[in-house]
Amino acid sequence: MRRISIFGLGRVGLVMAASFAKHGLKVIGIDPNPRVIEMLQKGEPPFYEPKLREYLDHALKKRTLVVTQDPTLNSSSDLAYIAVGTPSRADGGIDLSYVEKAAGMIGQSLRGAAKYQLVVIKSTVTPGTARNVVKATIQRESQKTPEIDFSVCSNPEFLREGNAIYDTEFPDRIVIGSDDLAAIRRLERFYKKFHGSKLPPVIRTDFENAELIKYANNAFLATKVSFINCIANIAELVPHADVKPIAAGIGLDKRIGPQFLNAGLGWGGSCFPKDLEAILSFSRGLGYGADLIRATVETNKKQAEKAVQFAKHFLGSLGGRHIAVLGLAFKPETDDMREAVSVPITNNLLDERATVAVWDPEAMENARQIFGSRVRYATGSSDCLEQADCCILVTEWPEFKKIRPQVYIKKMRQPFVIDGRRFLDVRIFRAAGVRVRAIGLGPES
Ligand code: UGA
Repeated sequence: MRRISIFGLGRVGLVMAASFAKHGLKVIGIDPNPRVIEMLQKGEPPFYEPKLREYLDHALKKRTLVVTQDPTLNSSSDLAYIAVGTPSRADGGIDLSYVEKAAGMIGQSLRGAAKYQLVVIKSTVTPGTARNVVKATIQRESQKTPEIDFSVCSNPEFLREGNAIYDTEFPDRIVIGSDDLAAIRRLERFYKKFHGSKLPPVIRTDFENAELIKYANNAFLATKVSFINCIANIAELVPHADVKPIAAGIGLDKRIGPQFLNAGLGWGGSCFPKDLEAILSFSRGLGYGADLIRATVETNKKQAEKAVQFAKHFLGSLGGRHIAVLGLAFKPETDDMREAVSVPITNNLLDERATVAVWDPEAMENARQIFGSRVRYATGSSDCLEQADCCILVTEWPEFKKIRPQVYIKKMRQPFVIDGRRFLDVRIFRAAGVRVRAIGLGPES
């Protein structure tokens, strides 16, 4: 492929664009947001992602990446990716308007073009979208013939925020769905060239299976986390029990595997919550309730409430108490606070009339948009702890792991820490005189 366009320069599209361009491919990144384009032209990523700035810098210097608001530039590309957002509608279903718009722009740009284009949908979309929305819209707007003038493939993305560049370069597998086998082969050849000897297994399938694989993947991972959180809640009722050795014990069963068994205050982010609601809504529309996925979501909602329950159990009323919230991003190595559990936790604390100080190494700017003047924005973790009656560790940033017990003792009014991610060595903290309540830790352990 000599030229690639990418529609949507968000957390998926921009990472792909920067990664392809860093490796010498010619990429045009297209996004309607003038602020995003302006920042990118200066080499400024609009969000935090490890290595992204460096990749962007390299690509801009080598002129392998061009960013623009102009969708007509797509007409000269061989390959076009749709990586726009698919936000939730009020009923939990997904809003396909950005996908439709991107497909429309691709179609229009191809109208007068003489060359074939392979269009690949990366955005997470419910089954039927690639066939009935993307392909149909491009055909209508371009007035061209599918499989001759253009083809569509569904190629879901599995990258994790915080590891996005690595996951783009070293995916576990590549899923390609289409009704056009030649197009599947063409895309597979492209990835073969890009990944070389590191090409992972490729699943060739239909549009609808590719679309469902993405939802099944996220629903399974979220279920794994809700499952271990459920076991954590049982362990908390059992003297001497602890979810950590339990997770290690089951994780060694090859059929289960060790990942996504870290118990905590629950999952968040821009994907799990949205995708589980979307697949539930989609499934309900077909007359099936998908009870297991519903239970996964319900378990997760209750999990975040535990932070305030723990605080109240120790402090009684929270009115007038100072609470330090350490960690706001939905997970470490990102500034993303979308559906982060820190938001309901902080709101619940404020509802209980506590005063709240917050700190996160990357998410402070986003936090200001969410909490306004309702909380105190600390200048670092130590400042956040100042005069606090309780500290809630919400996100397991490595820098929080380094805070020694003496810092809590010195800074806080009373050293009481809620380990919401099970990353403290509870014994050392308790021996030093810090009271600790941790997810999944039974009494007397
Ligand atoms: C997730 C998937 O892991 C990616 O494969 C997928 O591409 C992406 O969604 C997407 O659909 O775009 P991401 O949202 O970046 O990636 O984050 P994860 O690393 O999956 O974590 C999700 C949430 O689960 C976080 O809040 C994290 O703290 C929580 N989690 C994860 C746990 O509480 N325990 C664990 O053991 C693992």
